[in-house]
Formats: sequence, structure tokens, C-alpha cells
Amino acid sequence: MSSKFDATSPAPVPGERRNSTARSQALFERALQVMPGGSTRATIFFHPHPPYAAHGEGSRITDVDGNAIVDFTNNFFSAVHGHANPQVVAAVTEAAARGISFGLPTEVEVDLAEHICGRSPAFETIRFSNSGSEAVLSAIKAARAFTGRPAVAKIEGAYHGSYDHVEVSLDSKPGDWGEAAPIGTKYARGTPDAVLGDTVVIPFNDAEAATRLLETHGRRLAALLFDPLPSRVGLVPASAEFVAAIREATARLGIVLVVDEIVCFRLSHGGACPLWNLEPDLVTLGKIIGGGLPIGAVTGKRAIMDMFDVRPGKAAVPHGGTFTANPVTMAAGLASLRQLDQPAYDHLNGLGDYFRRRVTDAIAATGIPAQVTGMGSLFRIHPHQRPVRDYRTAYPTDGEKALLARLHPWLVGQGFLLTPNLSGALSTPMTESEVDALAEALAEGFAWASSDRAAA
Ligand SMILES: Cc1ncc(COP(=O)(O)O)c(C=O)c1O
Repeated sequence: MSSKFDATSPAPVPGERRNSTARSQALFERALQVMPGGSTRATIFFHPHPPYAAHGEGSRITDVDGNAIVDFTNNFFSAVHGHANPQVVAAVTEAAARGISFGLPTEVEVDLAEHICGRSPAFETIRFSNSGSEAVLSAIKAARAFTGRPAVAKIEGAYHGSYDHVEVSLDSKPGDWGEAAPIGTKYARGTPDAVLGDTVVIPFNDAEAATRLLETHGRRLAALLFDPLPSRVGLVPASAEFVAAIREATARLGIVLVVDEIVCFRLSHGGACPLWNLEPDLVTLGKIIGGGLPIGAVTGKRAIMDMFDVRPGKAAVPHGGTFTANPVTMAAGLASLRQLDQPAYDHLNGLGDYFRRRVTDAIAATGIPAQVTGMGSLFRIHPHQRPVRDYRTAYPTDGEKALLARLHPWLVGQGFLLTPNLSGALSTPMTESEVDALAEALAEGFAWASSDRAAA
């Protein structure tokens, strides 16, 4: 294990219990008065309410009640250097002192664009935005402008942010799986029917079905949106056969292949595509490229990216955004990515392998059926041992959902933050000690959450 990160890592205390939640509870009660459901982020809410963060450093957050939490979500996989990384804080402070945002471009925007484009030959030019959701919708608009087609294909169960079309079949249920093809379902109530008509849903890791559906709808399809390691689909990698099939079919049918690397860009210096030998048309980025501040980006083939070019007059896809490419976010992103050198990737990916071995062994010792999936520094823990290959095999039964609903808050109470479906990401300040502590807590937590006492 690299010692580069050890010095900055505070030692977690296994089994450390939270002393109080009174201040978080009081804040939630205030929030209920002024925000629907007391929350502004559906993805981070869990019952009865999450702890409120006071400050963070490295792999730790301290909540407003003074409880220490080892952070395995890293703000939904984005804080790759953990919290308050000194270089990022210095870059943000210096940039903010020079002016927080302007109605003009800045040099640091060019610096970050050059840095990211320098990481892969597939990243010919880049366009920034304020979130991953915005990057995804921009990529789809560019694909529509480029192809002159209206519809979009996406993978069943995959999450790509909050744009209407990409939310289709996000929470598909067994009754929606269909005979020959998945039935597209609305995620948000009120989504117009037209959205379903313009969205084709494809089962993950089924090369034959993917090819057939792309061929059936190809004349209307502008883009296929594809994440090779989709968290909500089970955080299992796309098979080489599936990737080859969708690349071949999209190229043959003139469909723009948009690879969503908003999470999986953290897998290597050049992102995810090189690991699958995949040549993308467009790639969407976000999360770690902003150093902890709001960001998204579309990158890829110049001919498609040129849809955003404003110079000859009206661009095919005019795209602006008051805060897009603001210098504070750009400086944070650059300071964060410059620290992500090969030793940092080796540390993250090596620790990820250790995590999967260690947690697998700890759970096996309890005799409780559970498993860990993931790749590199990304992981997800499943409360069953069915082989996971797609959304359907990852889909928890009602009993498994109930177990997760008991286990997740218990882990938070023990000082370990994971997402409610028990996925997470490691950060560079983490060491084996944080992983060991979580493995022990998981073993204890699974035993407790499976007991009659917890279920009662
Ligand atoms: C794969 C993927 N795509 C897109 C998004 C949307 O990004 P954002 O939350 O920045 O809008 C997310 C967010 O979690 C994501 O995981």
C-alpha cells in the first residue's frame, strides 16, 4: 500500500457510536417548514432524515452533533480526494479572490479543457456545463442536431441524471420487463407520454436484444446513452461482447454512442473507455473533474462537438449557462485532476481490490448471503448472492429491500456513510484502516439487520 496518503488519514474507530442526533433533527424540523419534504436532494434523503454535515477533512465528516463519519459516498463518488483537500482549497481561495464569476471566459477554463483533452485521444474538444445532468442533455441535443433524429436509447435501470428521457425505466419493476423488449416506464409522475415514445429501453449485457432493438428503432435514434459500469444496474461491468455489439450496431446505424463516464471516469487516467477498448462518439463527464464544485462536460469527436460552435452564426445547439465554466470551479477541477497521477490511481484501484476481498471475507464469516460488486475504487454491496449481470439480477426482493432499509441507517449510526443502496467510492486519503473498520461494521450490521429483533 502506498504510504503517500497514510499521513493524512485519520484513523477510524470501529464501532464508534453516535452520541446524539438532536441538532440534525432540529435542523430537519426547520427544513420541513421551508423545503418540500425538508430536502433539496432526493438522492441523499433517507428516513427519518440524514445527519447534517458540519465540516469534513480527508475521509471524515463531522456532523452538527459532533459525530465522526467515515465517508464512503464522497458526495456521490465526486470527492476523489476526500474533503478539504489542501491543494483544492488553496486553488478555490485564490480563484475566488480574483473574482467568482464573469460574463467572460477565463484562462483557467482553457487550462482545464487542455488538461482533460490531454487525457485521451477520444476527447478531441470539450464543452463545460454545471452538472452531469446538463452534460447528458447537451450531449443528447448535439446528437439530435448531428443526426437529425429525435429518439434516444438507454439501458434499463441506468441513472444519467434528471433529464426526462434518461429517467425512463430508471425504477423499472419486474412487471415492466416485457417479453421481447423492456416496457418504458415513467420515473417522475407527470412526464409527458411523448417522452416514452422517443425513448428506447435496452437490457444491460444482452448483446442480442441490444442489436435487435437498435436495428428496429435505428432510423429514429439519435443516440445510445451507455455507462459501462452503471451503479443502479448493479455496478457490474459491461461484458466485452455487449460493448462490441453496441459499438458495431451504433456505428452501422449512424447512432451517436454517448458514453456516460460521469462516475466511471475515475477508473483510470484516460477514463473508462480505454478499459473496454471502446471508441466513443461523445463522452459525458462530471463529478471528479470539478474538484468538489458543480460541473459537467461533454467531450468527444470534433465533428459532433462542432454542433456547439457559435462562430458561424447561430449554433446548431446554442448552449450557455450563467455559471458555466466559472473560474472557481475550473480552478478546483484543475487542482483536483493534477493530483490524480498514476500513483494516485494505483492507490485507489489497489484499495478497491482490497475492499472487495476484505468485505467479501467479513460477510462470508457471518454466513449471511451477501456480495460485493464493483471495479477500481467503486463498490456496491448486495444483500443476496444471485449472480449479478444486469438490473434484473441486481433487483432486490421486498425482503432484501427491507433489510437494506434497516442496515443503511444502522451503518450511518455507527459512523459509516454509504449510499442507501450500499454503493460507494473510495478517496485518495483512505487507507486499509477505513476499509477494515467498514468490513467489521458490515459483518456486525448484516447479522443485526437479519435478526428477528431488527425485523420486528
Ligand atoms: C452516471 C451518472 N450520470 C449522470 C449523473 C448526473 O450528474 P449530476 O448529479 O451532476 O447532475 C449522475 C449522478 O449521480 C450519474 O451517476
